[in-house]
Amino acid sequence: MKNLLKAQDLRAYYRLVDGTEIKAVDGVTLELRPNEVLGIAGESGCGKSTLAAVMSLTHNPPLRVVDGHVAANGSNLLTMPPEQVRREIKGRHISVVPQGAMNALNPTQRVRNFAIDMLQEHFPEMTKAQAIDLARARIEELSLPVRVLDSYPHELSGGMKQRTIIVLSTLLDPKVLIADEPTSALDVTSQKIVIKLLLALLGEGIITSIAFITHELPLLRQVADRIAIMYAGKLVEVGSMDEIIFSPEHPYTRALMGSMLVPEKHIREQRIEAIPGVPPDLKDLPIGCRFHPRCQKRLPVCSQEEPPAKIVGDRTTWCWLMQ
Ligand SMILES: Nc1ncnc2c1ncn2[C@@H]1O[C@H](COP(=O)(O)OP(=O)(O)O)[C@@H](O)[C@H]1O
Ligand code: SF4
Ligand SMILES: [Mg+2]
Repeated sequence: MKNLLKAQDLRAYYRLVDGTEIKAVDGVTLELRPNEVLGIAGESGCGKSTLAAVMSLTHNPPLRVVDGHVAANGSNLLTMPPEQVRREIKGRHISVVPQGAMNALNPTQRVRNFAIDMLQEHFPEMTKAQAIDLARARIEELSLPVRVLDSYPHELSGGMKQRTIIVLSTLLDPKVLIADEPTSALDVTSQKIVIKLLLALLGEGIITSIAFITHELPLLRQVADRIAIMYAGKLVEVGSMDEIIFSPEHPYTRALMGSMLVPEKHIREQRIEAIPGVPPDLKDLPIGCRFHPRCQKRLPVCSQEEPPAKIVGDRTTWCWLMQ
């Protein structure tokens, strides 16, 4: 079970006080390989952030893992003592930049305090001056202006805030960075600069792999080696960037592709209409394939049984059409 990071048959549900269960991650098996950017995409509400939270061990009630495990280096992180997770895993093996992190910085604190807090949590003996020196050296290495350390969050642009958070989150050289919508709400130029930084972290060998979560598939064309498509708490298709973007097989992936703007003529010609309908309620999921109420290709079996995984080469698809 030696691996960088892998979710195995993972089920994580929000259990609300009224007894409602929201099946946000419902049987996901997904591995992050060394030296790759794995894109995770899907419509809003399909469980991407929930998956990120559990895989980075930052989940809290009412979210509960009800089944499966998250493995790294041969250990199930979900059963590891919390103190060991804090000491050995968080920030060191896995770092996460949660969705909206740049808006969650404490507005009354200079950015350097974020670096001091993070480093001192792991190295209590480290002085503030040493922590700032470390952060400054990394910021210079990655060509960000050193002044960000002395700034308050509101003094920085969105793009600069996001880059700063990414740099500070990876100060301990984690193997894995999970970046949840790191480019959302940024203009196109800032998006490119953030992506350049993520690739620089890989290029410099500071991190080994990235899980890049987004609801914008076009961005993944620039950055991803593989792409996993999620729908209603499940994966529907996982494959190389070329397979997913240029020859998607699952009707949902094809619909997602069809609803995105692409310059290539041959893809434009294959474009299918924007996806009709809305994703299902995760409290009340349809029987069988979760996409069947919206699928124009559905077969009788689709509304009766969940489609099993079909693996061909490096691509896995969950659809009765592929069986
Ligand atoms: N704290 C929470 N309590 C209850 N339900 C939640 C909570 N956070 C997310 N959800 C629900 O879980 C589902 C998946 O959400 P999320 O993982 O944020 O999806 P995505 O990141 O793909 O937009 C959604 O139905 C959402 O409403
Ligand atoms: S399993 Fe059936 S309903 Fe689901 S995507 Fe495939 S064809 Fe459509
Ligand atoms: Mg999200």
